[in-house]
Amino acid sequence: MKARIVTLPGDGVGPEVLDAAVAVLEAVAERSGHSFEFESHLIGGCAIDATGEPLPAATLEACKKADAVLLGAVGGPKWSDPQAKVRPEQGLLAIRAALGVYANLRPLQVHPALASLSPLKNEKLKHVDVLFVRELTGGAYFGAKTRTTDTATDECKYTVAEVERVTRRAFALARERRQHVTSVDKANVLETSRLWRSTVTRIATEYPDVKLEHQLVDSMAMLLLTQPARYDVIVTENLFGDILTDEAAALAGSLGLLPSASLGEGTVGLYEPIHGSAPDIAGQGVANPLGAILSAAMLLRHSLDLDVEATTIEAAVSHVLSNGPHSRDIGGKAGTAAIRDAVIAALDDVATPAFLSGLRACG
Ligand code: NAD
Ligand code: IPM
Ligand code: MN
Repeated sequence: MKARIVTLPGDGVGPEVLDAAVAVLEAVAERSGHSFEFESHLIGGCAIDATGEPLPAATLEACKKADAVLLGAVGGPKWSDPQAKVRPEQGLLAIRAALGVYANLRPLQVHPALASLSPLKNEKLKHVDVLFVRELTGGAYFGAKTRTTDTATDECKYTVAEVERVTRRAFALARERRQHVTSVDKANVLETSRLWRSTVTRIATEYPDVKLEHQLVDSMAMLLLTQPARYDVIVTENLFGDILTDEAAALAGSLGLLPSASLGEGTVGLYEPIHGSAPDIAGQGVANPLGAILSAAMLLRHSLDLDVEATTIEAAVSHVLSNGPHSRDIGGKAGTAAIRDAVIAALDDVATPAFLSGLRACG
């Protein structure tokens, strides 16, 4: 198959991890007979520097025409002045909104070789397999903002339709997994959470085979640490999902490991690791590229319907986690390029006949 992928490297470690992810996709293309065309565009701080805008029109236009978009990270101290008129993160929010990708899938698994890096006792990490479905285009991120000298407000708003569509996505995904959805809110305090809870409860009746439970976000933050293996699909609003998934990354051993897929109604998706631009290690060639590489695997699965190829990348990553090399954040010494090369080499170790059949078909 032929696919057009727009890459948005962004700032800090973004370009470093994205280079690795693109190299893995190229290696997959070479081995499976597909043809991926890459086109790189500006977003975030580097786009502000070059054009004055965090999401230039040319970037948006290219993304809308692409089959999928792969993003590194945006932001950094250079653009973080609280007085700044324009911020890199606005570019990220704008591209999510413009592509209509309201469901952000953030899977969490704990590789046995890394369990000792987690602050939790190893036995709690057995069988951890959670899929967070974070609402991505609503809530406090997108509400009206006001600011005077001594007051600031961020409006948090949700419509029933916004909650319905992300809930349906979560239940459909749970059907393919362990048929259990935990909806996280703050319905004891927030009106938006009460609307969220009643909408989720109503939509759940369309999925009688899937069990629903509600959990308040504060106790959820605790339960994620005390009983992580209990959870299957966790659906929640934008801000709660942002916070809970960074917490969840600590269970996996590093923020650098977690991928994400942001999906809307069509097949064009936005794929990005959940971490940021990591200014403290940017430019050193030591960032862990596995979150970005696993995001590329999600791109193949969700936007290009290449499940075998996606599974092969995931198996190659797992092989590298089992056998090394490891990057610094997970206790090793290897740099970004060494991890990239190890994943590419592992593609051949884990390749199945189904993966290689594309190669045979292409002679
Ligand atoms: P961060 O995720 O950039 O970094 C947090 C910590 O995790 C740092 O110590 C960093 O070194 C480490 N880390 C992150 N990714 C890593 C990787 N791949 N390998 C090894 N270590 C890694 O969060 P922050 O420091 O709070 O934010 C920095 C900037 O990134 C901010 O401007 C923020 O807005 C932005 N940000 C962007 C995105 C995105 O583009 N999707 C996501 C989160 C934060
Ligand atoms: C993420 C990031 C973004 C978010 C920021 C950079 C806008 O933290 O993708 O998790 O909060 O959504
Ligand atoms: Mn975040």
